[in-house]
Amino acid sequence: MSQILIKNAQIITMDPNDTILTGDLLIKNDTIAAIGENLQASAVDKVIDATGRIVIPGFIQTHIHLCQTLFRGQADDLELLDWLKKRVWPLEAAHDEESLYYSALLGIGELIQSGTTCIVDMETVHHTHSAFQALADSGFRALSGKCMMDHGDEVPKLLQEDTHESIQESVDLLEKWHNYDNGRIEYAFCPRFVVSCTEELLVNVRDLSAKYDVKVHTHASENRGEIALVEAERGMRNVVYLDHIGLANERLILAHCVWLNDEEKEIIKKRGVKVSHCPGSNLKLASGIADVPNMLDREIFVSLGSDGAPCNNTLDMFHEMRLAATLHKPAYGPTAMKARKVFEMATIGGAKAVGMEDKIGSLEVGKKADLAILNLNKFHSYPSSEVDPISRIVYTANSGDVETTIINGKIVMENRVMKTIDESI
Ligand code: GUN
Ligand code: FE
Repeated sequence: MSQILIKNAQIITMDPNDTILTGDLLIKNDTIAAIGENLQASAVDKVIDATGRIVIPGFIQTHIHLCQTLFRGQADDLELLDWLKKRVWPLEAAHDEESLYYSALLGIGELIQSGTTCIVDMETVHHTHSAFQALADSGFRALSGKCMMDHGDEVPKLLQEDTHESIQESVDLLEKWHNYDNGRIEYAFCPRFVVSCTEELLVNVRDLSAKYDVKVHTHASENRGEIALVEAERGMRNVVYLDHIGLANERLILAHCVWLNDEEKEIIKKRGVKVSHCPGSNLKLASGIADVPNMLDREIFVSLGSDGAPCNNTLDMFHEMRLAATLHKPAYGPTAMKARKVFEMATIGGAKAVGMEDKIGSLEVGKKADLAILNLNKFHSYPSSEVDPISRIVYTANSGDVETTIINGKIVMENRVMKTIDESI
């Protein structure tokens, strides 16, 4: 058994009692064994003195593409459809097994360095086993899947798939990787977006996600050109179409949702679909501003993601949280998206989106030990117990403030130094 004792930290638990305490946290193997003051434990392998530090639940990002990590800076001033056609699809098509492995590994490294401990990931069409291998080797937690694209002439030939091959490859990957390492890795079906998928493929994905009880992760209503394409081909708006074919259900994670009408919002609410808000990507790709305050008023479930690295040029959840908190202030006023709401979306909200709220997303005894230790002492400010530490994190913290990251009870980064899975305690 391995034991890690984190001493004397300010701990933001995000548990239902909204506890913030100064004390200790004990990890036994992969699990949080105790939280409290002056914890004593024998045979501890490692004691981390966290005096002056803040311990938070690791961030959970519900939309990301590890395969795109190496494409940053390749297409900075294009909107979505041109960006895909001119740059991202050809670059994805050029991946081989090795480049995809390192693209994923580098993305995971950046995520760990900025306090993210779990992601919902969409890979490219080929070589997806390399990305799963990188997830396995790094100790990271993820739901991931192969991108499915069996429709559209503008897609490079190398990414064009036969419907049945796409489905078979997805099922083969699922059977190999779903529930790997005791559920640290899960499979999710990833039809790219309606524009690049036939109805036959989407209907099969619907049935397979029910059969295996796994998530479906896709993009929807991100860009007006995309919506026009869906309407022209399927005769319906994006989310109406997804509902029409039975894909809109509680297993569906929809990235972006920038341009939803009332009918679509009602469908999302009624069916329990989970929305992944990607504010940085939506700004940089000129997609628009998703009306998150309105979705939250309707009790739609919204979590956060940074999208692929070239979508907003960072995988840093602090950047995403700050944008999510500030984006709506001009239109709705200063309390539109409070820091606490955004922090909740980035932690326990993400866990609920992936159906893992009994496992991750908050620091509670019995949950998996996925956490980050922050040092926010670089700014000069009055030492004041009046300042909400969550507000301080959302409005001032950066990835460089993450000193240590622990996933599944293993130290994957300590004092900014990355650890391989063999080195980590
Ligand atoms: N829509 C379809 N594919 C993509 C992608 O790779 N990134 C983003 N942001 N939107 C997409
Ligand atoms: Fe995306």
